[in-house]
Amino acid sequence: MLEVVKLKKSIISMTDLTPQNLEVIFEQTRALKARIKKHENIDTLSGQVWGLLFEKPSTRTRTSFQTAVLRLNGEAIYLPSSGMQLSRGEPVRDTARILGGYLDGIIARVYDHKTVVDLEQYAGVPVINGLSDLGHPTQIVCDLFTLLENKGTLQGLTLTFIGDGNNVCNSLLLGTAMVGMNMNVACPKGYEPDMTIVAKAQEIAAKTGAKITIMHDPIEAARGADVLYTDVWVSMGEEAEKEKRLHDFKGYQINAGLLKVAAHDAVVMHCLPAHRGLEITDDVIEGPQSIVWQQGENKLYGAVGILSFIQGVGH
Ligand code: CP
Ligand code: NVA
Repeated sequence: MLEVVKLKKSIISMTDLTPQNLEVIFEQTRALKARIKKHENIDTLSGQVWGLLFEKPSTRTRTSFQTAVLRLNGEAIYLPSSGMQLSRGEPVRDTARILGGYLDGIIARVYDHKTVVDLEQYAGVPVINGLSDLGHPTQIVCDLFTLLENKGTLQGLTLTFIGDGNNVCNSLLLGTAMVGMNMNVACPKGYEPDMTIVAKAQEIAAKTGAKITIMHDPIEAARGADVLYTDVWVSMGEEAEKEKRLHDFKGYQINAGLLKVAAHDAVVMHCLPAHRGLEITDDVIEGPQSIVWQQGENKLYGAVGILSFIQGVGH
């Protein structure tokens, strides 16, 4: 029988979790995935109402978290910021205090990372970062679970990220370091991941035995890697830089040639949405080494695992 403790825990960055927390979440995710697939009734969020406050579009994060709340017998309300007074200048902290009085938890997707930090500071209920300009922690929790399903163990694997040192790359750096995975980043000059996050990830890696290398040559970075991972060249909010980015990122593509230099049993991941012919080729994303669709499906089960963890299940 699992002991249930109210944690009221927020996840704004990967560093809000410990490696032990991740193990609990993976265990919950695995168990709940099996139960949901059998259509079992799960009451973890019974009587709770969660809000999904989104400033940007989303297919996976929104639908997976909304479905996860419903699967756990809670209620979920979608709150696009365009329909709220936020869009007319109401301060985030005022919005946070009001929503916190109505809701049991908030999943937020924002442009400026400070928005999700302020939400968490003023809401008084758990806040989950569903992507900011600085990080995408829940994506990485789900992705590490997907890798665990495929590889059986994470410690000692090498993940190579090809492309933009963006929000996804930042959270991957922290997440891989926490579980003892090595990470190579190959990005064009000027598109390196956030240096404060790299320093934090190095500090974590020193404890778990992981190695982090930031470089500019995709072939060197991919050599022998167990996982090749990429993300879009133009993130949400960067549309004005599109032409420059399409030029600067040429060559930073996961294609059959790059896959050849990786380990023979390497897997390919992409957080999606994907742009075939840009950061990844069609043959690779549709090919036998791609685990992208399993990765996408697991966003639901990871969300369920994360919500259960926040409720204290499994502690
Ligand atoms: N990977 C991801 O976060 O996808 P969405 O933008 O569709 O939520
Ligand atoms: N880096 C991308 C991730 C999308 C899930 C973006 O921020 O648009």
